[in-house]
Amino acid sequence: MNPDTVQSLDRSDGRPSFLGHGVGLRRDHFERVLSGPTVVDWFEVLSENFMVEGGRPPDVLTRVRERYPVVLHGVSLSIGSTDPLDEAYLDRLDALARRFQPAWVSDHLCWTGVGGRNAHDLLPLPYTEAALDHVVARLQRVQERLGRPIALENVSSYVAYKHSALPEWEFLAEVARRSGCGILLDINNIYVSARNHGFDPRVYLQGIPPHKVWQFHLAGHSDKGAYLLDTHDHPVIDPVWDLYREAILKFGPVSTLIEWDDRIPAFERLEQESQRARAIHDETLPRPAESAVVTAAPAGRPAGLGTQP
Ligand SMILES: [Fe+2]
Repeated sequence: MNPDTVQSLDRSDGRPSFLGHGVGLRRDHFERVLSGPTVVDWFEVLSENFMVEGGRPPDVLTRVRERYPVVLHGVSLSIGSTDPLDEAYLDRLDALARRFQPAWVSDHLCWTGVGGRNAHDLLPLPYTEAALDHVVARLQRVQERLGRPIALENVSSYVAYKHSALPEWEFLAEVARRSGCGILLDINNIYVSARNHGFDPRVYLQGIPPHKVWQFHLAGHSDKGAYLLDTHDHPVIDPVWDLYREAILKFGPVSTLIEWDDRIPAFERLEQESQRARAIHDETLPRPAESAVVTAAPAGRPAGLGTQP
């Protein structure tokens, strides 16, 4: 790890700074975001959408980054695959992080393909000791390559493996403990998987160490009757808001992001959803001191360090 790694972990318990309440930056909203003020505190962008030389997306992100903290969220790391790590992808991700200085970089605890074939889906892992060793070793190489710890997100799932020996939350917590990575805890994914597999989502929360949780995701899903499908095309439902309340009580102030990736509404609807998350946070916990909330970090200086000496 280089010295920046230490600097980027700047809360007393080792977590990055609390950014407040953000939304995903989507192409449909570029003009709206650039043209005036918003009520959101930060934006998450899909890393792969900005791994291009020139053109509009990098230009838009440069201008957004001048005003807001940004987090890079990827879907292509495939940390659980048995294929070799994609060094060219890591090079592009490293260049993107150096250019835009995100508060942190995240991807998913999953695999997306094998034998060079891409499943175009975020697939769950078998939760075994062998898989744990495999993921931790690869994650350590990724973090060395990027010069920073990253955060991994729990995926929603529809299948499980008979030979899994650990519940998902124990596997995720152990990956974080052994590798030094953070956790992006998707509250909706916990709810979806809990319904699909028949576990108690509150037990999942209890199994996650608070000092490892860097970020929450909230999203809507679709009820297909026999199972829940993580579609990101609806508002967050009340039971997920309830679970979010419990997560805040357990984990304290955690940077929270609304995901809405399909049937994307007007930006103002996303702002409403983010404001609802903020209201729940504020009524659940005392508002953090202003100095603890990161506002737009000057270009060239990592967000998350804005209020630190
Ligand atoms: Fe998510």
